[in-house]
Amino acid sequence: MQIKEKINEIKSQFDSDFVLLSSDKIDKNTISYKYLGRKGLLSTIYPLLSSCDNKDKPKVGKLINDLKTYINDRLSSVESSQNSSDFNKAIDVTLPENILSSGSIHPLTKIVDEIESIFQKIGFSSVYGSEIETDYYNFEALNIPRHHPARDMQDTFYTDHSTLLRTHTSGSQIHHMENNTPPVRILSPGRVYRNEDISVRSYCLFHQIEGLYVDRNVTFSDLKSTLEYFAKEFFGSDIKTRFRPSYFPFTEPSAEMDVYWGLNNESDYRITKGTGWLEILGCGMVDPEVFKSVNYDTKIYSGFAFGLGIERIAMLKYGIDDIRLFYNGDIKFLRQFK
Ligand code: DAH
Repeated sequence: MQIKEKINEIKSQFDSDFVLLSSDKIDKNTISYKYLGRKGLLSTIYPLLSSCDNKDKPKVGKLINDLKTYINDRLSSVESSQNSSDFNKAIDVTLPENILSSGSIHPLTKIVDEIESIFQKIGFSSVYGSEIETDYYNFEALNIPRHHPARDMQDTFYTDHSTLLRTHTSGSQIHHMENNTPPVRILSPGRVYRNEDISVRSYCLFHQIEGLYVDRNVTFSDLKSTLEYFAKEFFGSDIKTRFRPSYFPFTEPSAEMDVYWGLNNESDYRITKGTGWLEILGCGMVDPEVFKSVNYDTKIYSGFAFGLGIERIAMLKYGIDDIRLFYNGDIKFLRQFK
């Protein structure tokens, strides 16, 4: 039955063309012309009819008609989608491309993420405090009573006599200890505010990460080894660090940690004030007065705390010499951190 084979062959050819139609590789008119046109593939079947037995002719004629209906139906089913691709053809492909710009992670966020993951490896988890704070959490509970000279260290934006924009993340320590019993091992990153003159080195807001570790028998050597581990992970294993005695009301003894930045060029002289060393954080053993305000038993527990300035570290890491670049949303600046 040569003619039936021919009909089947045309049908399967149509089916594969139809797939191309739905993917817009061929258009509907071309297909219609190819199969149903005056000299289309269907028209090549009719001459074969004459070679059929008379008794078979009605059946074969029906097969041809069925195929024709099949093709027509399928083609009209794509009417609507074909219309929309006709619409696509009206698009001028010579127009310049529309470049979609995607955002990037802010450099300060990158630094915070990196520091959090370094401390996560040694069991620190993150908690987040609120930027509007009471005088009690920002100062009093941290052993900085009213009229204490240490309040002058930080120029504060007050919203009323007892509420303020936090000047440091240290208040997070108090919130966390009030609600948790030791062992405590947390980081608390966030934004802080100070009423400072705006310049290339200072801004009215900046970011810190607070760290706190409280347990039985925590010592100053735990503090040193933890922060040295951090510096090596962050700056590289050959970084040199040193601790200098310092003063903070909420830690006793207190220290600052410097990293050796080197004195290779003029800018190194300028940022390290000719010493090669750069301070990156304040730290110390939690003062017993602080433990008293959260009802931790100072005979059982001891701990250390530290506070890191994020902008400082980001400026070092990326060689940025104007702190204001972090905040003014300049796309040309931000794109460099993709
Ligand atoms: N809060 C201090 C500041 O803003 C930084 C700091 C120093 C935090 C020593 C601490 C610490 O937890 O132990 O300057």
